[in-house]
Amino acid sequence: PHVLVLAGGLSYERDVSLRSGRRVLDALRATGLSAELRDADVTLLPTLQEDPPDAVVIALHGATGEDGSLRGVLDLCGVPYVGSTAASARLAWDKPSAKSRLREAGIPTPDWVALPHDRFSELGAEAVLSRISDRLGLPLMVKPAEGGSGLGASVARESSALPAAMVGCFAYDSTALVEKYVTGTSVAVSVLDLGEGPFPLPAVEIVPRNGIYDYAARYTAGLTTWHTPARLTPPVADAVASLALAAYKALGLRDLSRVDLIVDPHGTPHVLGVNVSPGMTETSLLPLAVQTAGLDLGKILTTLVTQATT
Ligand code: DAL
Repeated sequence: PHVLVLAGGLSYERDVSLRSGRRVLDALRATGLSAELRDADVTLLPTLQEDPPDAVVIALHGATGEDGSLRGVLDLCGVPYVGSTAASARLAWDKPSAKSRLREAGIPTPDWVALPHDRFSELGAEAVLSRISDRLGLPLMVKPAEGGSGLGASVARESSALPAAMVGCFAYDSTALVEKYVTGTSVAVSVLDLGEGPFPLPAVEIVPRNGIYDYAARYTAGLTTWHTPARLTPPVADAVASLALAAYKALGLRDLSRVDLIVDPHGTPHVLGVNVSPGMTETSLLPLAVQTAGLDLGKILTTLVTQATT
């Protein structure tokens, strides 16, 4: 089949996506598949109608690629794609909605408040922030409700740090997710479904050199150390794997995803978020988990392409 790998786009994660796209392209081509990398710009639409590929692999991160809108366009054009449906992507992409769904399913996720910018300006920063810190305690994690790669996200350890954290976050989205900051071991579990039901790959433990897994730590070689599999006791590793699987199912995901979790000092895992379009760069976690499991990224993607087209 002829496969179009979509990357780039206009989101804040364009550069990351171009790196993911190249990795995906190389992996697919290494299996002998006919694949082409394409920037997801406006010229994509006539191509999808006039010369539709047999399948699309979405290596786009951020708005459009991850929020379900592009998937909706592919549905409209009748072009099959690898990955979650438009509706599931939309749900997973909006962090407050995803967290509500996880909580309904009994999956632990840190307490949170979704704060629209309008409310912040209307009531005044001080009043809003003191209410939030009274309710959730400190420290707090502040992130754009919709976003990725750590952009606009920061930890406020004191109330005095909250206004700056909110400003940083509102640069990326008009709604902030303010979350109780849970300390512990950061792990990521990729979940795949190669046709026989979803299964978790070994957890990857993330240890950023300066303690914060921000954009630089994610994409600069040497700034983060990984432990694969994660240094967890067998019962905690099992709990992490089943929670990741439960999150994948609760959000109705398909084919491949990555679930980010934190294991608190009592050994309890909490789900922080779920990615329907996980990074595929040289420093990304899903490819590392694939390698740890002794699998081949190209073969996995080829299997998913076959699944999408049959
Ligand atoms: N949003 C980036 C690409 C990730 O989660 O891997």
